[in-house]
Amino acid sequence: MSTQPHRPVFDKVSLHQDIAKVLVDEVTIRKRVRELGDVINREYAHKDLLLVSVLKGSIIFMADLIRAITIPHEIDFMATSSYGAGTSSSGVVRILKDLNSSIEGRNIVVVEDIIDSGRTLSYLVRILQERRPASLRIMTLLDKPERREVDIHVDWVGFSIPNEFVVGYGLDYDEIYRNLPFIGVLKPSVYGAPE
Ligand code: IMP
Ligand code: MG
Repeated sequence: MSTQPHRPVFDKVSLHQDIAKVLVDEVTIRKRVRELGDVINREYAHKDLLLVSVLKGSIIFMADLIRAITIPHEIDFMATSSYGAGTSSSGVVRILKDLNSSIEGRNIVVVEDIIDSGRTLSYLVRILQERRPASLRIMTLLDKPERREVDIHVDWVGFSIPNEFVVGYGLDYDEIYRNLPFIGVLKPSVYGAPE
């Protein structure tokens, strides 16, 4: 039996009812992910490659991306948590799950869901660089350049989006909505704000 307290979100018949608008639809995502897979195929042909997915937001992107990649590669996962709740990151990052193996001398591509303030990624890049990989590059599905607080070089961006809180295709609000197959903007009422 579940020990979770009852959350009103579970009364919903469909999560789609909470979406104000679709920002990036499924077909557009699929096409772009294929292009990004091709970028990796070209850049890392005949090279050692380890893709590092940052949990949990990047899982759907990662799963689709690696199927768009046709060259041999390995994958690994890291989980970080930024202290504090809400829709923005606090900048204090904690490692919840580290990589399974050493990255020294390897070519690494960090696969992210979204870069917002850039704080999470900037911290992650710093600790990964200390492990002396041969190369370290960053691929993110989404980028919100207007929100950047930390200067960070991102090698490949799927879509640049405006300063709106988005969910779906792996991205959550309060751990829900990750399963939506598109990138959408939530209705303000979901955060308790008037429509
Ligand atoms: P940053 O440290 O501010 O760049 O925050 C990055 C992390 O915040 C992402 O990996 C997401 O987990 C989360 N995040 C930032 N913006 C959004 C959003 O619009 N929707 C869902 N999660 C977001
Ligand atoms: Mg994330």
